[in-house]
Amino acid sequence: MSYLFINLKLCIQILNLINNNMSGNKTLSIIKPGAVRNKHIGHILSKIEENGYTIAAIKTIQLRLEDAAEFYSVHQGKPFYQELIEFMSSGPIIAMVLLKDNAVEDFRKLIGATDPEKAAEGTIRRMFATSKTANAIHGSDSDENAERESSFFFSRQEWLRRTQVGLD
Ligand code: CMP
Repeated sequence: MSYLFINLKLCIQILNLINNNMSGNKTLSIIKPGAVRNKHIGHILSKIEENGYTIAAIKTIQLRLEDAAEFYSVHQGKPFYQELIEFMSSGPIIAMVLLKDNAVEDFRKLIGATDPEKAAEGTIRRMFATSKTANAIHGSDSDENAERESSFFFSRQEWLRRTQVGLD
């Protein structure tokens, strides 16, 4: 009987492990230097939580220019790249791993278009961004990038599992 129970527990743990690594329920966000300087951290975190996200990991950090260059390496060669990495290393940022079903897609709706002038009313960028570069907040654009970007800022031990935050 206890043998069966141990096996059942093991199965549940394996299923949770798979679920934690499943795509679609996690995104990486950064509150950018301009929004941090302008004291918008509290407002932005409230918006994120009000919209159903659980903050699984969070830290304040200042990137070096070479860190920003690595993080945004997919944009290397684009006209805005140099300005972007200089801006992103110009002051403290808040990096976060956020959990929610359909996290990547829903979060991009919540933050709005890259250009704050084109961002819909009520979106975070519409409210707190000042330009395309200083656009207040970053959100991963795919599940694959959410994994890569989360691992850029945090080790696996640093972000809470869905079970720990009562999501499963
Ligand atoms: P982010 O979501 O952090 O991803 C790439 C960033 O490049 C984007 O937000 C903007 O801050 C920045 N950027 C600046 N100019 C442009 C542009 N013309 N097109 C796209 N991204 C831009």
